[in-house]
Amino acid sequence: MEELVKIIKSGGVVAFPTETVYGLGADAWNPDAVTAVFNVKGRPSDNPLIVHVAEKNGAYDFATAVPEDAERLMEAFWPGPLTLILIKKPEVLDIVTAGLPSVALRMPNHGLALEFIRRTGPLVGPSANRSGGPSPTTAAHVKDDFGAGFPVLDGGACGIGLESTVLDVTREPYTIYRPGAISADEISAVLRKDVRHLLPGKENFTAVASPSPGLKYTHYAPAAAVRWLDPGESARDPETLYLFHTHGSGSTKNSIHYRGDYTALARELYDRFRQADKQGFTKIAVEPFPEQVQSGGNTIIPALKNRISKAAGL
Ligand code: TXA
Ligand code: MG
Repeated sequence: MEELVKIIKSGGVVAFPTETVYGLGADAWNPDAVTAVFNVKGRPSDNPLIVHVAEKNGAYDFATAVPEDAERLMEAFWPGPLTLILIKKPEVLDIVTAGLPSVALRMPNHGLALEFIRRTGPLVGPSANRSGGPSPTTAAHVKDDFGAGFPVLDGGACGIGLESTVLDVTREPYTIYRPGAISADEISAVLRKDVRHLLPGKENFTAVASPSPGLKYTHYAPAAAVRWLDPGESARDPETLYLFHTHGSGSTKNSIHYRGDYTALARELYDRFRQADKQGFTKIAVEPFPEQVQSGGNTIIPALKNRISKAAGL
């Protein structure tokens, strides 16, 4: 940890664990360090970064006019997988927000991450993968993308496995740009207000019109072609890795059965994507989610649907 803190303080880039996925950390106040993050990832410069803080008060160094609703959400869900979009202070670096008037903030629910950020100061933290590919959920994934020598704070496997919910609270109705482990219903319950989902097709977003620039890019995709399974289709093709969650019984060489454990599917999804590439599968087919399983505690399903659809290029 000591060594890695020094790297950040001297303007370097270090991957760190969170409860969602690994992030690519750099000093949020150092423009050269933030530039290095974009370069390492190969990330388009119009896609803004999330600033990670180690305490709720840290948000006030970046956001101005924090509405009461945002404070309620921080109280309810921080530390945790909820990123809040707030109006930024003028001194927040333009490169962090890609020139937007708003800034994305989150406090991760991960002891090692919080200890690290307490020592480094606030960190920008896009997912620590090459731009466009699946996010990393282990230190080994990060090293697969950036090389064995890349500095990673190893916190083991991430507990959730899908990126945080991104919620815009700069104007009402509040909008979820990216679904995550914290659902619209949970947010609504705290605020007693409707929260809407923005789950657009790529075609609805242009460089100028997109409220959350990340939405218009391809994301989360392995080299294998991802698609939704056709109704009634079975695991016939040996070149396809099949991911089932209701059908089937035991797992086979090319099929994995989650038996209703959506939390496990979320936690392992990106690892399955990455392993499929290593094992030489050219295709991945995922069983679609029935509408009715979205309630009843399966709050991760909208996020799963979103990531799989995006990986499929839909
Ligand atoms: O769980 C997570 O959020 C992980 C971990 C490492 O914290 N981080 C992560 O960062 O997923 P990234 O950069 O891969 O995704 C950030 C998303 C992008 O879709 C980006 O466009 C959006 O947040 N975003 C960032 N700042 C924004 C802003 N000011 N307005 C709208 N969207 C913003
Ligand atoms: Mg990402």
